[in-house]
Amino acid sequence: MSRGKTRRKTVWVCRECGHESSGYFGRCPSCDAWGTMVEQLEAPVAANRFGEPRSFQRLTEVRSAERARLSLGSVEFDRVLGGGLVPGSLVLLGGDPGIGKSTLLLQTALRVAEQGRTVLYIAAEESPEQIKLRADRLGAPSEGVLLLAETALDRALEEATQLRPALVIIDSIQTVYLSELDSSPGSVSQLRDCTGRVLQFAKRTGIPVFLIGHVTKEGLIAGPRVVEHMVDVVLYLEGERFHQHRVLRAAKNRFGSTNEIGVFEMSDAGLIDVGNPSELFLSERVANAAGSAVVAVLEGTRPILIEVQALTSAAGYGTPRRVATGFDATRLQLLVAVLTKHAGLRLADQDVFVNVTGGIRIVEPAADLAVALAIASSASGIPLETDAVYIGEVGLAGEVRGVHSLERRLQEAARLGFARAYVPASSRFPLVGAGLHLVSVRTVAEAVSALAARAVRARPDVIEPLPE
Ligand code: TYD
Ligand code: MG
Repeated sequence: MSRGKTRRKTVWVCRECGHESSGYFGRCPSCDAWGTMVEQLEAPVAANRFGEPRSFQRLTEVRSAERARLSLGSVEFDRVLGGGLVPGSLVLLGGDPGIGKSTLLLQTALRVAEQGRTVLYIAAEESPEQIKLRADRLGAPSEGVLLLAETALDRALEEATQLRPALVIIDSIQTVYLSELDSSPGSVSQLRDCTGRVLQFAKRTGIPVFLIGHVTKEGLIAGPRVVEHMVDVVLYLEGERFHQHRVLRAAKNRFGSTNEIGVFEMSDAGLIDVGNPSELFLSERVANAAGSAVVAVLEGTRPILIEVQALTSAAGYGTPRRVATGFDATRLQLLVAVLTKHAGLRLADQDVFVNVTGGIRIVEPAADLAVALAIASSASGIPLETDAVYIGEVGLAGEVRGVHSLERRLQEAARLGFARAYVPASSRFPLVGAGLHLVSVRTVAEAVSALAARAVRARPDVIEPLPE
């Protein structure tokens, strides 16, 4: 690696306790942690994160950035950002390799260029030819997109300063480097100092910058997480690689809510906005299958219907497994305990698997009732009502607790043709049922026995054998 003439001094900083020393230690002299010392550039005097020293300003004199947000030409993307991109903001886009980060941002570059603006795409990972191949799939190329194949960050930012584009995209933060540092690209010190340099560029010029960061196997250590605290917005693009849709989520947003999600579908021509995610998430549902329940969760301002699946099966030796995908594992254990204790389900010798379809991660407790009933349904082999949604938080005593914004969830269910909704009995009445038949539920036990009763009604031919 070439070394710049104006080498700045480097120091070694402990990742754990922040202890600084001029030399490397395998074990931090201050907190005794092993292998936590990372190399960092010593901060230049008088520089702050906005590039230059400043005197104070009156709060009333600070210009609001709100007016000038840049639309990225995608309703979903703009919504996640809080209504477009704020000038001078630094946005980190993280995600697994191959999930579609480069695709999303190249598409964004093309769309912004369509508005007659210039976008600089710093390609530090792929050759311009590879990027051109991708662009060909995404539709009409645009004059406004400029590619720069450069891994030396200083040179790339110099170009950007000269060019003054409307947007800069760096693909990726793990492959660019600063020559003053001895460590290799992608190391913690390079990640931090490169991000710091880009941050100064963004604040100094007012040009918004996207940084792409791969989530590595070590995730927490060398992945985008180490720079999360430095940037304005952290987005993660998620989804299962072999599934069509992708979810864009804000993990941090200085300019908007972190609750909003953007849903996209990966097609032959890039990522397409999905305006009606509920329809997509329910499209593969099998009618009358045991272990499936539909819940209406609220993602930001938007209610989304999602199918929750559960499977119980005889466990082998040892502790039975409780495995959750898209749902909190501890919460699942809690629900299994509640079902065992309060609804009389025998799950002690059963493995329990729960899967939230569509690669969605449910964080809301409002999905508890649906998860609990999906488990009960799988354990009993009795399907839940296909045209019903289940909404409610489950407490430790087996009670079903109220959720916020119930009306909005019910409206979405009605819109998608659902006929009934199981809702917490404590919900404020009269409820606007949005045309749904509402069934109020006080406890999980009550809902589970309603399920069992349904099976008897549905199969009058089943006669209990007499005891011998
Ligand atoms: P990519 O954006 O290269 O992922 P990342 O930058 O996150 O590593 O996209 C990878 C996948 O997307 C790749 O497997 C091909 C697929 N893809 C499509 O399905 N349709 C498209 O139009 C494009 C451009 C990519
Ligand atoms: Mg890529």
